[in-house]
Amino acid sequence: MGSNVTEPVQLRVVDVIEETSDAKSFVFEASSLLSYKPGQFLTIEVPSNSDSGNTARCYSLSSAPHESDLLKITVKRVRDGHGSNWLCDNLKVGHTVKALPPSGLFTTRQASSDLLLFAGGSGITPVMSIAKSALASGSGDVVLFYANRNEASVIFASELNDLSAKYPDRFVTIHWLESVQGIPTVTQLKNVVRHFCSYDAYVCGPAPFMAAALTVLDELKFPRERKHHERFISLEGNPFDVDVTTAEQDSPVVGVDGVASVAASKAARSFRVSGKLGDVSFDHDDWPPDQVLLDFLLKKKLPAPFSCRAGECSSCMFKVVEGSVKMTKNDVLDEEDLGDGFRLACQALPETEEISISYDF
Ligand code: FES
Repeated sequence: MGSNVTEPVQLRVVDVIEETSDAKSFVFEASSLLSYKPGQFLTIEVPSNSDSGNTARCYSLSSAPHESDLLKITVKRVRDGHGSNWLCDNLKVGHTVKALPPSGLFTTRQASSDLLLFAGGSGITPVMSIAKSALASGSGDVVLFYANRNEASVIFASELNDLSAKYPDRFVTIHWLESVQGIPTVTQLKNVVRHFCSYDAYVCGPAPFMAAALTVLDELKFPRERKHHERFISLEGNPFDVDVTTAEQDSPVVGVDGVASVAASKAARSFRVSGKLGDVSFDHDDWPPDQVLLDFLLKKKLPAPFSCRAGECSSCMFKVVEGSVKMTKNDVLDEEDLGDGFRLACQALPETEEISISYDF
């Protein structure tokens, strides 16, 4: 899951790259504290657009771990997009930003897989990281379908050309320009990618583009385990407000309607965690009924992943193996996810006395 650090870090900007007229990359000094996987994102604190205080935004890393220790995010201006516009207008070399460690589940599982990548506009950011890593560290073929408004809005055009030259037998980019071909329809997309049905698919871009690409994958019968997508999210709260490791008080648990929602919970008297956080049993240390799982794990010094703390991003996802938990809010997991046992640690309360969960999936 990337970094083992859970507390915010300060990152210093060492370079700013004008990618297009409305997109910039910000390169941050190497931090020995932070490791990440291709496709993951940083949660960055930016001043709020109200009179005071701060808010947070998530930006995918466009760098790849094998390239260097530097971290790079690429930010495209969005009309009325407070975070992206603030960063593009204000963040300069020498400035520092506060960030949560890299997070996210939009990452590759097997280095040897063939990849079918869909990117729309700035959705190229995590996809670029995945493509570079797969080409450098893997052995499979990589096909990138990349849609943009016009030629001038193509981010990483020359970097993609370089990759094509370096890996002529393994990498191809299929550019699609709205100014030339119009918005790609499901039928057009399907015709372009139908030869790659055995590949692992990754999709990121604006909502209509993602909807079309995911429909194509469904129609081409891609199995669930070979379909991955990343949505742009705009956080409502500020995860930097919470001191997760030292707080004496438990964070309040608030339901979707804003009402405290703990009535049906009961302490888990036997609680087990397995997978990437280690194998840990809490047989004499209850998981309290009014404390969300994420807070419980962080206070026990386990490096549980998280970003938004608001049920909006899925960084904190885990799998229930035994027993049951309930969630007070869920904006990201669909019926299939829930049916497979996935839940959000930042929203999960114990429902049974014996619970076993896993971070290994
Ligand atoms: S941390 Fe974002 S959904 Fe839990």
